[in-house]
Amino acid sequence: MQKVKKAIIPAAGLGTRFLPATKAMPKEMLPIVDKPTIQYIVEEAIESGIEDIIIVTGKGKRAIEDHFDNNFELEDNLMKKGKFELLEKTKHPAKVDIHYIRQKEPLGLGHAVWCARKFIGNDPFAVLLGDDIVQADTPCLKQLIDQFDQTDKSVIGVQQVGEDETDRYGIVAPQERFDRLYSIDHLVEKPKKGTAPSNLAIMGRYVLSAEIFEYLEKHDVGSGGEIQLTDAIQRLNESSKVYAYDFQGNRFDVGETLGFVKTTIEFALQNEEIGHDVREIIEDLLEKYNQQ
Ligand code: UTP
Repeated sequence: MQKVKKAIIPAAGLGTRFLPATKAMPKEMLPIVDKPTIQYIVEEAIESGIEDIIIVTGKGKRAIEDHFDNNFELEDNLMKKGKFELLEKTKHPAKVDIHYIRQKEPLGLGHAVWCARKFIGNDPFAVLLGDDIVQADTPCLKQLIDQFDQTDKSVIGVQQVGEDETDRYGIVAPQERFDRLYSIDHLVEKPKKGTAPSNLAIMGRYVLSAEIFEYLEKHDVGSGGEIQLTDAIQRLNESSKVYAYDFQGNRFDVGETLGFVKTTIEFALQNEEIGHDVREIIEDLLEKYNQQ
């Protein structure tokens, strides 16, 4: 069986939910405390055994390439000043090769994944979206790869969400359940309120067989006028079983502003250096605003 060693990180979207911040800066570079969102995603991929990452970029996304490149001037400066801890933090991750391809137009997530097809070839591969950061004992992607290794079938990461949230996600209609693993009857992208077939929401982590490109190739336009990855997975499930895995871990929704702020607060509270002070600041602020 082929091992999953390649991953695609689509990062060519317009990030409209974060305007005006994302007018000149990629959404994927918005920091959670002191690290850009995409770095958390790259770190999860590395911890899951991925050796090659291809980031799908687009117009205005050069900052992502610069971030994962070496910065000689900065490194030299930190070295001369003896700031070795900072130097270590700024270096390019050595354990992975990062490649780039441009999506010329943001036609949808499915199209972004399709843009990386030549890099993937016939190998099974992972897709990680920056909208969700997951903290888990076993990295989220590793959990999916373990399931892929056992079933030799594509696996998508899901978690249960509240009924009032199902219209924001791709939703899985399950068939059979094997502990945390589900066979899939069908998938629906962002079902209208009250029509979702379950509360199992797709969470931005996938392990897919290269067969998916046959369906993405058709460039069928789906929900929101975009070429949807969920629609291609639906086709793949009809020809070769796809599984959904209810992964373990704390998911942080950083794809919209409220989730992003909540994640920032929680990560700041967890931070060894500033966590204690942040707690005091929050307590002071609560006192101030509760008095108003
Ligand atoms: P999103 O829909 O969350 O990202 O796509 P977006 O379109 O940038 O955000 P909003 O809705 O306008 O605020 C999920 C991921 O897929 C990528 C995005 O960069 C994001 O990481 N994506 C989306 C692409 O790479 N290309 C696309 O055409 C669409």
